[in-house]
Formats: sequence, structure tokens, C-alpha cells
Amino acid sequence: MASSPSPASDFLVLTLWALLVISPVHSLTCSSQTFTNNGLYKKCLDLPTLSSYLHWTYDQSNSSLSIAFIAPPSKSGGWIAWAINPTDTGMKGSQALLAFKSDNGSMTVKTYNISNIGPVTESKISFDVWDASAESSSGVMRLFAKLKVPSNSQTINQVWQVGPSVTGGVPDAHSMQTANLNAKSTLSLVGEQTATPSGTDSRTKKKNIHGVLNVVSWGILFPTGAIIARYLRTFESAEPAWFYLHVFCQISAYAIGVAGWGTGLKLGSESPGVQYTGHRNIGISVFCLATVQIFALFLRPKKDHKYRLYWNIYHHGVGYSILILGILNIFKGYDILQPAKKWKSAYIIVIIVLGAIALLLEAITWIVVLRRKSSKSTKPYDGFNNGQGRQ
Ligand SMILES: *[C@@H]1O[C@H](CO)[C@@H](O)[C@H](O)[C@H]1NC(C)=O
Ligand SMILES: *[C@@H]1O[C@H](CO)[C@@H](O)[C@H](O)[C@H]1NC(C)=O
Ligand SMILES: *[C@@H]1O[C@H](CO)[C@@H](O)[C@H](O)[C@H]1NC(C)=O
Repeated sequence: MASSPSPASDFLVLTLWALLVISPVHSLTCSSQTFTNNGLYKKCLDLPTLSSYLHWTYDQSNSSLSIAFIAPPSKSGGWIAWAINPTDTGMKGSQALLAFKSDNGSMTVKTYNISNIGPVTESKISFDVWDASAESSSGVMRLFAKLKVPSNSQTINQVWQVGPSVTGGVPDAHSMQTANLNAKSTLSLVGEQTATPSGTDSRTKKKNIHGVLNVVSWGILFPTGAIIARYLRTFESAEPAWFYLHVFCQISAYAIGVAGWGTGLKLGSESPGVQYTGHRNIGISVFCLATVQIFALFLRPKKDHKYRLYWNIYHHGVGYSILILGILNIFKGYDILQPAKKWKSAYIIVIIVLGAIALLLEAITWIVVLRRKSSKSTKPYDGFNNGQGRQ
């Protein structure tokens, strides 16, 4: 028997990776930032999304608020915006200050009364604004302004945003990723400051749970089970262990995957305005295919049965489809959720490791099969429908 990596230790390594993938990160802080005028602001805050920062001073005696909002536009040539929403917590109704590079090349700040989703037009806002200016350097824009907020304000609802482009002096729509939709919080003007996301925390948590469940099931367990089935059975001594390992991996993947699928459906039903059609449809397809695949276990003919060939084609065809669609959908999910970069990198490494293990085992399998063929001159392993599987 040729030596092959033990599935148990692979699994351990992959589980460790999955745990790494879950751990959160955040490092840069506003207090270490330097820019023109940064001495003018008494307080600062690392905003929870879009790599944005707010520096501000609030003068309670005449209720004037002086701010510097710092963010990278989503593409160069884009825009950044900071707003107060006097009536609500989201974008609708917000009184926005927007900074972008105007046609003559200089940075400009405009105000927008955002009453609806859709194209915006420059307008007066419900606060007096003065000393508004903006600058841009090394991919980051800074918006400075002073505003008169309602007297005796203790907190304000702030909303911030970044966009990709400006066409003919009109800022184009920003994307609707989780990070964009969660770009709002309550800013406490007096007293100690902490970022208090307004009603977004539990939803982000749910999305993370959805992501983790699906990465572990379709992204890690399912491919591991497929590798076990395809390669370990070449080795007579792996009989019948490979079969039980394969069934164990795929049934666990299915159970966790169904939980992940359920959280996805729930998330979808909770946000009727936002649709990730591709991600949703692939998710539903993967679930249906996986359910069909579970039946393969019960419908399996004996290995010398005349229908076994058709069963093999169905089982392998559906299996490879789930493998490809599952991994594809995980990457679509990463693009929607936009977690810290290392989460995606860690998963890419998992995929590379699994791919390398598969390649290595493919090579070993061929060596074993060719040797067996030359020594015994039996029916060669065809790499797909060989008759060595368990009944
Ligand atoms: C409020 O007072 C500060 C100084 O205390 C001053 O710089 C600022 O211009 C005043 N704002 C308004 C709206 O009067
Ligand atoms: C550039 O255009 C903006 C408005 O689009 C204007 O406010 C500003 O004065 C212009 N700057 C120069 C240098 O022409
Ligand atoms: C902003 O738009 C809303 C809805 O169109 C309107 O009711 C409100 O008066 C506007 N605010 C200002 C300052 O123009």
C-alpha cells in the first residue's frame, strides 16, 4: 500500500484553518492618523465599516459641530459622503455632505437632501454648513465641514458612504454590499464615545454564522469527503474505512450545509429590498443537488448490478456539480459579505491545500494502478467507475 496523508490529520488542519477564518480583526485607529488640521478635533472614532474615520469637535455652547470624515472612495475617481439623519437611522432622509473631484480637477464638497433611493441632486440641507472643503491623497479622501446641529443635541444618527464614480458632476450609486448597508451608527456628541451600530450588529452576526456554516460544509467537509471517496479506495487496506469516512463527511456536510442554507433563506427574507440573485439561486441549486445526492446512499445498487454504471454516473456527476457550485457560491458570498481580507485568503489557502492533496493522491493512484496492472494484468483502474468500491 502506498503511503497517503491521513484524512484525520487533514481534517484537523482544515478545522484549525476554519477557526482562523472566524477570528475577527481590526487594527488601524483614528488616534494615530495625521492630516492637515488634525489638531483641531477633540475626538475621533474608527467607524465600523468602509475603512472610514470621523474626527470631530462639538461646541455645546452654540451647538456647532466641526468634522473631518476620512475614507477611501470605492474606486479612484469616486466619492465619499458623511451625513446626519435627523429623522431616521438609514440613508433615507439623511442630510449629506459629499466630496469628490470636480471636472476642473479640484476637490469639491456638495450637500444633498436624500429623500429617496435613486439619483441625487445637489440641494440645501436642513443644517447650516460652512467652511466645507475636501482633499485627496494616496487613495484617501478627507471631507472637512462645520455644521450647526439642533441645540441641546446629545446624539445624532450618522450615515457614511463611499461610491465608485461621478458622472457629469453627479455622484453615481454606491454598491449595496453589507459594508455599505451597515454604514450608519449613533454618534454621541457628549460624553465618552464608543461606536454604537444602530440595529446592525445582530444581522452582521447572522451573516457571519451563515458564512461560517457554508464554508465548513460545502467548502471544506464536502470536498474532503469527495477526495476520500476518489482516492482512498485505491488502497485495499483502506477498505471499508474510506466508505464510512466518505459517508460521515458528506452527511455532516449536508447537515451543516442545510443549517447554512436555512440561515441564508432567513437573511434573504429579512431584507426584501436587497437581492443577491446569483448567490441565492446557486445556493438553492446546491441544496437540491445535495438532497438528490443523499438518495444516492439509499438507491445504491450492488457493485456488479447492471445499473451500477448509471448509478456511478449519477452519483459522480451530481457530486462534482455540488463541489464546483458550492465553492463558487462561497466566493460569491465573500464578495457580498466583504469580511476582512484574511478570511478570504485563508479559504483560498484551504482550497489550494485540498487541491494539492488531490493532485498528489491522483498521481499516487495512477502509480499504484499501473503497478497493479503490470503485476497482475487485471482489469485496469479507470479512475472513475472501477469495481473496487464497496457494495
Ligand atoms: C461657536 O463658537 C465657536 C467658538 O466657541 C466659534 O468658533 C464658532 O464659529 C461658533 N459657531 C457658531 C455657529 O456661532
Ligand atoms: C472647480 O469647480 C468647482 C465646482 O465644480 C468650483 O467650485 C471651483 O471654484 C473650481 N475651481 C477652479 C480652480 O476653477
Ligand atoms: C428634503 O426633502 C424632503 C422630502 O422631499 C422635504 O420634505 C424636506 O423639506 C427637504 N429638506 C430641505 C432642507 O430642503
